[in-house]
Amino acid sequence: MTGKLRIALPKGRLFDQSIELLSRAGIRIADESSASRRLRFLDEEGKYEFIQLKPIDIPVYVESGAIDAGIAGSDVLRELESDVYEPLDLQIGKCKLSLAAPDGIVLSHEKHLSIATKYPRTADRFFKSRRAHVRIVRLEGSVEIAPALGLADAIVDLVETGRTLRDNDLRIIEDIMPVSAKMIVNRTAMKTKARRINTLISKLDAVIYENT
Ligand code: PRP
Repeated sequence: MTGKLRIALPKGRLFDQSIELLSRAGIRIADESSASRRLRFLDEEGKYEFIQLKPIDIPVYVESGAIDAGIAGSDVLRELESDVYEPLDLQIGKCKLSLAAPDGIVLSHEKHLSIATKYPRTADRFFKSRRAHVRIVRLEGSVEIAPALGLADAIVDLVETGRTLRDNDLRIIEDIMPVSAKMIVNRTAMKTKARRINTLISKLDAVIYENT
């Protein structure tokens, strides 16, 4: 069977790392200089068609089958509870999802805490597992400023270097889960395009294995 495999790549902080990983796996972007602004581009051999999307949208496209496979953070996959195949941890985009609060504040679960986050479902699951009652305030970014402005008592957000927390006078109360980027594949495509998808998995796996 011929035709290009359609692959979703995340815009933002994972984009350059994704391109580098593909390049090390021998998949080079045609005219790389303009790839970062184009939403759709090909590899040099014309085997893959790459689509640049917001990270939160990638599992939606791949689950639906509009896109065969992609690179998605485990933060987003757990938040959306996406039904996709996850054959590989790509060992990039490593960070963690943590509960953090202002320095010097002791969080009491006696009172109903309000929690600001971009991950309302993940946060809700975490607090339910602790039998804690919280009010979740859903935000789209700059979550670390919410406690200082009185919008929330604490936050649930990604921590990579910890700098954003420190610079906003927050400290980690508890780590909720480790996060990294995964290769994801549509369940039907995994069967109907098995040969081509397995070739891609093997190429990426070889590169990841080299570095561990
Ligand atoms: C992410 C995350 C934290 C920050 C963590 O935000 O939501 O705010 O990076 O990184 P650090 O621990 O290395 O400081 P991003 O830069 O994606 O922007 P956002 O706040 O708009 O989500």
